[in-house]
Amino acid sequence: MTILVTGSNGQLGNELRLLAPAYPGYRFIFTDVAELDITSEPDVEMLVKAENPDFIINCAAYTAVDKAEQEPNLAFLINATAVGNLARVAVRHNAMLIHISTDYVFDGTGCKPYMEDDPTNPISLYAKSKHAGEQQLQSYGSNALIVRTSWLYSEFGNNFVKTMMKYGKERGHLNVVFDQTGTPTYARDLAKTIMHIIQNKPVSKGVEVFHYSNEGVTSWYDFAKTIMEFSGIPCSISPIETRDYPLPATRPFFSVFNKSKIKQHFQIEIPYWRDSLKECIQRLEQVN
Ligand SMILES: NC(=O)c1ccc[n+]([C@@H]2O[C@H](COP(=O)([O-])OP(=O)(O)OC[C@H]3O[C@@H](n4cnc5c(N)ncnc54)[C@H](OP(=O)(O)O)[C@@H]3O)[C@@H](O)[C@H]2O)c1
Repeated sequence: MTILVTGSNGQLGNELRLLAPAYPGYRFIFTDVAELDITSEPDVEMLVKAENPDFIINCAAYTAVDKAEQEPNLAFLINATAVGNLARVAVRHNAMLIHISTDYVFDGTGCKPYMEDDPTNPISLYAKSKHAGEQQLQSYGSNALIVRTSWLYSEFGNNFVKTMMKYGKERGHLNVVFDQTGTPTYARDLAKTIMHIIQNKPVSKGVEVFHYSNEGVTSWYDFAKTIMEFSGIPCSISPIETRDYPLPATRPFFSVFNKSKIKQHFQIEIPYWRDSLKECIQRLEQVN
C-alpha cells in the first residue's frame, strides 16, 4: 500500500511523517510544494502515474486566514482549483483521495453541533476557498473522503498553542476572545485517525464527508487559560469580545462538530481536548 501525502511540511503533514514508522506495511511518499505543487495538474498526474499510490492525503492548503482577504486568487488556486486537480488524477489512477476541510464552511450562527449535511455558508475568503475545494471534489471525485476539522494545533508550524506560549512568556498578560466557541484538534490525533481510516480499507461510492475534532467544547479564552496552566507559564488572561479584537477575516462564533458519524463508521474513540493539549505541551517541552 502506498500513501502519497501532499503539503507534508505543514502541521498535519508533519504529524503523519512522525507517525509513519509505526505503519511499516505502508510506503509513504511525503511531498510539499517543492516536490509536488498541487496547483499543477500535469505535475500531479506525472507523480501519481509514476508512484501509483493507493491513497492520497491532501494536507496541502493555503491556511493564512486573514491574508486570504487580500490574496483571494491564491487562496482559491490552492484550496479549490488544486483540489479539482487531485480529484481528477485520483479518479484516473484509481487512488482514494482523503481531503482535509474546515469548520469554517459553516457560518457559526448555529447553536447545535454541526452535522455533516447541515447547510454550509462560509463567511470569509479562506472559508469560501475551502468550501469551493469541497465542491471541486464533489464535482470531479469518486471514492473520496472529506474530513472537516477545527482549531488545529501541533508541535509544528504556527498555531494558537505555540503563539500563546510565546506571548505568555514575553508579556505576562493577554486578552483573548471568549465569545467564539469550538473544539481544538491535536493534529497528531487527526493523523492517527486518518491512518485508522486507511487501515480499515474504506470504500466510498462517492464523496463522503466526516467531522473530526477532539471531544468537548471550549472558547479561545478557556483554551488559552488551559495552555498557561499546562505549560506552567505565569500569564494572566482576560476575556474580551470578538468586536474588541478586530481581524480582517470574520470568524464563526460557534463551530462545534457532531462527530457521531466518524465514531460509528470507523469505531473510534476520540480523546478529550484537554488530554490531547496536555500531551502536545509535554512533547513541546521535551523538544525545547
Ligand atoms: N490550521 C487550522 O486551524 C485548521 C483548522 C481547520 C482545518 N484546517 C485544514 O487542515 C488542513 C491542514 O492544515 P495545516 O494547519 O496542517 O496546514 P499548514 O500547516 O498551513 O500546511 C499546509 C502545507 O501546504 C503547503 N502548500 C501550500 N501550497 C501548496 C501547493 N501549491 N502545493 C503543495 N503544498 C502546498 C504549505 O506550504 P507553505 O507553508 O510554504 O505555504 C504547508 O507546508 C488544511 O486543509 C487546512 O485548511 C486547518
